[in-house]
Amino acid sequence: SLVVKSSYADELVKTAKTIASPGRGILAMDESNATCGKRLASIGLENTEANRQAYRTLLVTAPGLGQYVSGAILFEETLYQSTVDGAKIVDVLIEQNIVPGIKVDKGLVPLAGSNNESWCQGLDGLASRSAAYYQQGARFAKWRTVVSIPNGPSALAVKEAAWGLARYASISQDNGLVPIVEPEILLDGEHGIDRTFEVAQKVWAEVFLYLAENNVMFEGILLKPSMVTPGAECKDKATPQKVADYTLKLLHRRIPPAVPGIMFLSGGQSEVEATLNLNAMNQSPNPWHVSFSYARALQNTCLKTWGGRPENVQAAQESLLIRAKANSLAQLGKYTG
Ligand code: 13P
Repeated sequence: SLVVKSSYADELVKTAKTIASPGRGILAMDESNATCGKRLASIGLENTEANRQAYRTLLVTAPGLGQYVSGAILFEETLYQSTVDGAKIVDVLIEQNIVPGIKVDKGLVPLAGSNNESWCQGLDGLASRSAAYYQQGARFAKWRTVVSIPNGPSALAVKEAAWGLARYASISQDNGLVPIVEPEILLDGEHGIDRTFEVAQKVWAEVFLYLAENNVMFEGILLKPSMVTPGAECKDKATPQKVADYTLKLLHRRIPPAVPGIMFLSGGQSEVEATLNLNAMNQSPNPWHVSFSYARALQNTCLKTWGGRPENVQAAQESLLIRAKANSLAQLGKYTG
């Protein structure tokens, strides 16, 4: 038979549906140690395991977070970590009704033969790592690769990004993890929104070509696209309505309705901008659950409010819940500001 079916097929569909449930989205808290170090430096903290643990404890123990958040993406360190009070972080998430996820890629390196572009490493040993992450409680995975508009993107870079995502997705499903497919089209550049649209069409066409070729089951994946916006340095700004129109047009042309959830990244948008854009996309019914998988657009104010001070933990958690609730309402198309 040509039909390849993961022994986890039913569970994958169920996990994806749970994550793509009404009024909920993903908290991306999977910053690598290097990136987490930058976030901690912005509030004057050293990049130590204890500080990372304190911050991640604050996030996962925010009371009632599971009402707005269905999944949390963790870095490997956090998947095996306990809270400052000694509870396993995975258990705290499950208790909150939040599915634990894991970033499985090994980051970006220069792509030889390209126009200064990059590719994403991490396929070597991925099957055994994925099996171990499943044992540890993870039920979904993330692999983030990037495409740069100012640097091309070259046909080579797009093909490499799409192929890597498809291999990763297939290996994830084989090991019981729902793959989040994330070809981030970087915001950087002076280009207008039409150029972003053109590049996104090309990228998603190739991603789905290779997902199909690798026998990935579309009902058991989630997507993490960039919204279609003008480049960050473009003089013309786009309203939420325009971003929604372009982004939905892209999704309708490229994403089969079998895919249960589209979980957008925030990519450097401000917190409010990311909420308004998501809300605009949910003003009429969509074939897929259209939601968020934000890191910065959920965490920025929370991190600043905390400032590394124990007496600010509660206020910081309230800041996180404000953003989570706003995006939950935006998922339902009911955010009013
Ligand atoms: P941002 O929402 O900060 O772009 O991060 C989301 C993410 O996980 C990128 O991979």
